[in-house]
Amino acid sequence: MIKLERITKSFGTLQVLKGIDVEIGKGEIVSIVGPSGAGKTTLLQIMGTLDEPDTGLVSIDGTIVSRMKQKELSAFRNSHIGFVFQFHQLLPEFTAIENVMIPAFIAGVSTKDSLTRASEILDFMGLKERASHKPNELSGGEKQRVAVARALINNPAVILADEPSGSLDTRNKEELHQLFFDLRNKFGQTFVIVTHDEALAQITDRTVHMIDGIIQ
Ligand SMILES: Nc1ncnc2c1ncn2[C@@H]1O[C@H](COP(=O)(O)OP(=O)(O)OP(=O)(O)O)[C@@H](O)[C@H]1O
Ligand SMILES: [Mg+2]
Repeated sequence: MIKLERITKSFGTLQVLKGIDVEIGKGEIVSIVGPSGAGKTTLLQIMGTLDEPDTGLVSIDGTIVSRMKQKELSAFRNSHIGFVFQFHQLLPEFTAIENVMIPAFIAGVSTKDSLTRASEILDFMGLKERASHKPNELSGGEKQRVAVARALINNPAVILADEPSGSLDTRNKEELHQLFFDLRNKFGQTFVIVTHDEALAQITDRTVHMIDGIIQ
């Protein structure tokens, strides 16, 4: 589903990724762990086509993304990849359901269809009652689940998450982790999760260890 070959990336004179090869299968849940500064976020951004490698190839779902033009690439990203960040990054002016609908709008889905799909997902996540609340009226765990719902609205094959449970307490953390597995079991999505959470890394299908820009 995701294939990275010989990826290198530098910021100025600092080489952050030093030749990364990694392959992630469809429906796999893979965690990426490693010390701060190892290059985990950089790698995830490159996997998600949010950043470009200096050298190497990235292919997602059989498409070599490095060869795509910007406009084509953003459409591809919006339909194939969902992102979940450490801090939910919901838009404060919009309700939970509106936040979830935004990527569908961008993909050109009608309001009616986006609304139906967003309600289904929020329902699945036990957030039905919270749909019309704005982010500042939601708990941390609820906000993070809304962010996951937003990542799912276009039914992407791949979900990339960067320390998604980093800002949550133990109970919300466990609920969010369980949700990833429920989603994979129900919809077959592929998950790549950067985490400092030992408990999460333990339960994923595979853990990739990164140190100083290389995979161990
Ligand atoms: N845009 C940038 N410009 C310059 N340096 C950068 C940039 N992004 C990241 N770096 C540097 O690259 C290195 C790797 O950063 P990265 O964010 O990938 O690490 P990380 O493994 O995600 O760390 P953490 O666990 O702290 O989030 C760090 O030394 C960081 O300072
Ligand atoms: Mg990081």
